[in-house]
Amino acid sequence: MPYRQQRQLPWEADHHAPTITNFGDQVFGALPQNLWRQIEPHFVKDVALRQHSSRLGALTAFLGHHAGQEDSGWLERLAEAAVLHDVGKTRLDPTILGKGRDVSSADLDHIRNHAPLGAELLETHGGEPFGLAAIVARYHHEAHDGSGYPHGLIGDAVPQEARIVALCDVYDALRSPRSYKHAMEHDHAMRIILGGDNRTRPQQFDPYLLAVFERHSAAIAKLYHRN
Ligand SMILES: [Fe+2]
Ligand SMILES: [Fe+2]
Repeated sequence: MPYRQQRQLPWEADHHAPTITNFGDQVFGALPQNLWRQIEPHFVKDVALRQHSSRLGALTAFLGHHAGQEDSGWLERLAEAAVLHDVGKTRLDPTILGKGRDVSSADLDHIRNHAPLGAELLETHGGEPFGLAAIVARYHHEAHDGSGYPHGLIGDAVPQEARIVALCDVYDALRSPRSYKHAMEHDHAMRIILGGDNRTRPQQFDPYLLAVFERHSAAIAKLYHRN
């Protein structure tokens, strides 16, 4: 694809090299102007979303690789898709987005719309090269047990790339500080992902991916900090 340049895959990055906050920046920097213009104002302002998106590129490529995906081109596109998974948030009302957890059910519907809105944005302004990114944007809040949105798909009906991103997305959200919550240590986040709490249940994740995630838990903790 003409807009793609050779990038170092996130988990291959030299430990001493500048971090992959870089990887996200590389992805954003290589987007077609048309697409970047659509999301730039939001991503420039929302540093937390930019960092979350960038880390998700690294975590997702790592999990995809250890889940048995060997095609480095696919992994690179997956990492790029993960960086773009929440682009639909650029289409939301910032006041509602800024409410944190204190939202009405109408607000929640509005926020949940970021999944299809992101897919539409990528399809309209990115076109065919962003097909995988559009799939991830649309399905990254689906859950293995059918409790997710927007479609409530179950099991393998959720595209594999979206299942990989979904697990990393929850991990990163737990680890990161938000206006309404503190950052969480790795072990605490892992306990919630594997054992559940009042918001997260292990049944929402692909069991195979969950096992891979647990097996590589120590490396994932390091990867989070490097990024
Ligand atoms: Fe999302
Ligand atoms: Fe996210």
